[in-house]
Amino acid sequence: MADVQAIILVGGEGTRLRPLTYGTPKPMVPIAGVPFLARSMERLYEAGITDVILAAGYMPKAITDYFGNGSRLGMRVTYAIEETPLGTAGALKNVAQHVTGRFFVFNGDILTSLDLRSMMEYHESKGGSGTLHLIRVPDPSAFGCVVHDDQGAVSAFVEKPAPGAAPCNDVNAGTYLLEREVLDAIPGGRAVSIERETFPKLIASGKRLYAFVTDDYWIDLGRPENYLTAHRDVLSGLMPLLVEPGITGDGARELRDKRSIVEPVHLDAGTSIDPTATVGPNVVLGRGCWIGAGAVVRESVLWDDVRVGPQAVVEESILASGVRVGAGARIGAGSVVGHGYTVEDGLEVEEGSRLSDRS
Ligand code: GTP
Repeated sequence: MADVQAIILVGGEGTRLRPLTYGTPKPMVPIAGVPFLARSMERLYEAGITDVILAAGYMPKAITDYFGNGSRLGMRVTYAIEETPLGTAGALKNVAQHVTGRFFVFNGDILTSLDLRSMMEYHESKGGSGTLHLIRVPDPSAFGCVVHDDQGAVSAFVEKPAPGAAPCNDVNAGTYLLEREVLDAIPGGRAVSIERETFPKLIASGKRLYAFVTDDYWIDLGRPENYLTAHRDVLSGLMPLLVEPGITGDGARELRDKRSIVEPVHLDAGTSIDPTATVGPNVVLGRGCWIGAGAVVRESVLWDDVRVGPQAVVEESILASGVRVGAGARIGAGSVVGHGYTVEDGLEVEEGSRLSDRS
């Protein structure tokens, strides 16, 4: 698919992931130790797509510093940085000068096993202006429903239908394959939403859009609970991303004493775990994490250089880089702790807390 370009939308502020996104833009949030965007790029490379445009806006330097011109990955990466957010279609219009033909569009926060080559074959067989990846869900009320006939021809879009009033269960899964002409339907110079404005307008003007419904693994990483679920699914192998489930990562090879580990876990290099601690199941420890004697860390993702003091407990939570959890402290389930924050010795952090030096 060397002739197809990819545009990845990475300009959102990621408000729902705060305070993580105060210090790291959402696309650079790690999945099992690697920035999610790097994992997405790898997937494109494997599908033979090497010409990528990143439509950024919020904290773009973290992205440009990491990927540069893409040559390290064997890719060509072009950036468009928005001064003010242009929305999901406005961002595409903004990069129109770099688009030479047919292109994929990816929401930058979707983890999926979708096979891009199959989507391309389907698109070519249908011959429409665009193909939209859809996923069937039991309750579509939090999503954008896409109504289509048996042949896949899309007829309507219904954003976030009231519970019980949804016209169908197939929802927009955030990957599109579009012909260049679609860019002509997007007005320039203002924010435009592709789901709410551009797609409905295309249908109304007689252009054909097709639904590509699959039962792939699919999750939006933009909410803390989904971020943890995604890790659980990656660690269990439900979402194929790591080589083998169990104890993975460079830190696993360094591990001398496995008594403290409850599989599955992913350990990055330089992690230090006291043999009397309990780590797992479903735990990711980033580079240089330190877990003290008798501490318990379960169902949680810890970024780099996090220290969990002796007898502390961390459950179902996300701790950004540099967090310190004091001796005997307890982090309640559903908590998100921002970069460099210190939780004092013995403190009981309520379930669902958001802690950061900025809030
Ligand atoms: P929330 O603030 O938590 O809703 O996150 P978000 O700002 O990322 O919004 P949302 O999850 O709806 O965005 C879906 C995808 O589109 C993400 O990958 C965003 O980075 C991206 N995105 C959203 N708005 C814009 C925009 O105005 N410009 C660009 N370039 N990307 C955007």
